[in-house]
Amino acid sequence: MKLFGIFAAVANYFLCSVQPPSPPLSSAPENLPILVWGGLGDSVLSSGMEELMGELSERYDTRVYGVSIGDTPSEDRRLSGLSDANYNVQVACSKLSQLDNTPVNAIGLSQGGLFLRAVIEQCPEAPPLRHLVTFGTPHMGIERLPRCAPRDWVCAAVALVTRWGVYTAYAQSHAVVAQYYRDPTRYAEYLRKSTWLAGLNNERALIQEGHASYSPKQGDRLAALESFTAVMFSGDTTVTPKQSAWFGSSNVSRLSNVSSEGESSEIVPLEQQPIYTHPLDPLGLRRLNEQGRLHLKACDGRHLNLTDACMWPILDGVFDKSE
Ligand SMILES: *[C@@H]1O[C@H](CO)[C@@H](O)[C@H](O)[C@H]1NC(C)=O
Ligand SMILES: *[C@@H]1O[C@H](CO)[C@@H](O)[C@H](O)[C@H]1NC(C)=O
Ligand SMILES: *[C@@H]1O[C@H](CO)[C@@H](O)[C@H](O)[C@H]1NC(C)=O
Repeated sequence: MKLFGIFAAVANYFLCSVQPPSPPLSSAPENLPILVWGGLGDSVLSSGMEELMGELSERYDTRVYGVSIGDTPSEDRRLSGLSDANYNVQVACSKLSQLDNTPVNAIGLSQGGLFLRAVIEQCPEAPPLRHLVTFGTPHMGIERLPRCAPRDWVCAAVALVTRWGVYTAYAQSHAVVAQYYRDPTRYAEYLRKSTWLAGLNNERALIQEGHASYSPKQGDRLAALESFTAVMFSGDTTVTPKQSAWFGSSNVSRLSNVSSEGESSEIVPLEQQPIYTHPLDPLGLRRLNEQGRLHLKACDGRHLNLTDACMWPILDGVFDKSE
């Protein structure tokens, strides 16, 4: 009952608290709560996301919290696209710091996975995160803006904000996608101007050790995860390249002098990425991988095609054995 009070209070702040249908009677240790962070233009306050969270809660017999930045579904949707990502991270950190310090697991959908990574790397006041699963998350950014679905007003507004360029100061503080736009043909400019992803991925460590924005703690914190499962959708055309979900990207050193796009379609996989091979292991990914705690999985179909066949086997593998 006491626990319920704490969680109910927190639910006011950020989240929908989805309770299991009935409290477990056994004395088995309670399954860890699960945080869910949705994608661009979506909100955990929407009915679709509430349904997913309800299913998670039932299946894993635990509390599920959706992380929202805005207080209403439409405000939350707007802030998922039209905001400064660092602001969203700050809001989430402060809300998460109100949870007790029980460890949690987390699921990030699309860009929600980047935000969860930011919480892990940059938010020591949040509860410790044990297992992270990301679905279609652009971990190495996007190299093309997503095409907007009809009537997706958040996406349309983002297109307007980035119209004069993704690396303008305005776009870099008002459009979340611009903040993880990683242009392989303008890599130096990206490193200079990206207000989010370059720092989140600790990429500046590669050009200059001791760079002010390099934070060894970020990599250490990510490396402290018990597991990190990154899922790519095999037919993803929203995240370009789709392999970004596995930390793949175009080869920036080949393309950084080239002015025209699409020079090469070859994708540098995680294990050949400078953030992986660099002696500092700036993001902790090498430590995770070498200790068998990094899992790259694939699902069929387009971006966020979260079918039962794709989602449950992956999540069961992670959450069924985590207590
Ligand atoms: C990039 O430009 C520099 C200086 O102009 C040149 O030395 C280098 O060979 C170029 N790299 C590629 C891959 O073209
Ligand atoms: C990326 O391109 C550079 C320059 O062409 C090349 O030396 C390097 O091997 C490439 N890296 C990968 C991982 O393909
Ligand atoms: C979604 O994935 C299923 C398999 O899990 C596949 O059969 C289906 O074609 C995919 N749908 C889309 C629209 O990508």
